[in-house]
Amino acid sequence: MRAWNIELRYLTIGYDRHTVLSDINATLPGGEISVILGGSGCGKSTLLRHIVGLQRPIAGEILIDGRDLYALDKEEFRRTRRRMGVLFQDGALLGALTLAQNAALPLSQHLWLKKDLLRNAALRVLRMVGLADFADYYPNELSGGMRKRAGLARAIIAEPAILLCDEPTSGLDPITAARMDDLLLSMRAQYKEMTIVVVSHDLASLKRIAQHVLVLGEGRALFAGSLEELLNSHDPYLVNFLNRRPDEGPRFEDEPPNPEVLKALNKWLDS
Ligand SMILES: Nc1ncnc2c1ncn2[C@@H]1O[C@H](COP(=O)(O)OP(=O)(O)OP(=O)(O)O)[C@@H](O)[C@H]1O
Ligand SMILES: [Mg+2]
Repeated sequence: MRAWNIELRYLTIGYDRHTVLSDINATLPGGEISVILGGSGCGKSTLLRHIVGLQRPIAGEILIDGRDLYALDKEEFRRTRRRMGVLFQDGALLGALTLAQNAALPLSQHLWLKKDLLRNAALRVLRMVGLADFADYYPNELSGGMRKRAGLARAIIAEPAILLCDEPTSGLDPITAARMDDLLLSMRAQYKEMTIVVVSHDLASLKRIAQHVLVLGEGRALFAGSLEELLNSHDPYLVNFLNRRPDEGPRFEDEPPNPEVLKALNKWLDS
């Protein structure tokens, strides 16, 4: 099987009449790791939901392996969606199921397989993410990083052509985050045809895993290209973002407290 490209063409997405991103043109190349980068609230998760077929664009197209996802007939649409594995931002594990049952879900929901076959398939992917010893634990017995790894195990169990991960390293300490990056890199080494899309605002992770980058901001695509091109860019917004410089926000010194409130407050604190 050859790798699937994801192409965004004049894509405009959003909610009801509230447009989040306009006119995006970018290709996320098959068989590579693409990172979608952008500040909080810029529309990364929204874009991901559109790519996996959960939300229809306002305008434009999403081509998966050359075919417009939202123009496919029902059967082809289902067939295409089946080839996508998703790690949602919060892991989205079911609390009533063990890790093994959670990991096996994409198979157990659609296939009639003997219990021990399902369990072995689940154990295989849990081993890949280093969680085989926790197969019979419930999600609330695990740390956040473990839950994300379990979500990743579930996302890959059905051998997806496209793996999408929403913020796989956010909320993790730097060492656990680096392990997650390693996991994605080894995933790519093992599945050479897999197209991996990672949503992130983690710059360390970006530099480690990205081959291709799509930067979102100000309601549009600010950059699409290789990691090297991004790191060499002189665009002021990109330079600020990559150097973690804040933009112009409200300044505390412009907002001194009211002297009368301050006087009353001090009186109370001293009383
Ligand atoms: N279900 C929804 N209905 C209406 N608006 C929404 C909905 N979900 C998100 N939005 C809006 O869409 C915009 C983009 O949200 P989104 O969750 O895609 O951002 P994000 O880039 O993933 O942010 P973060 O980095 O914090 O996860 C925000 O302005 C948000 O308020
Ligand atoms: Mg998000």
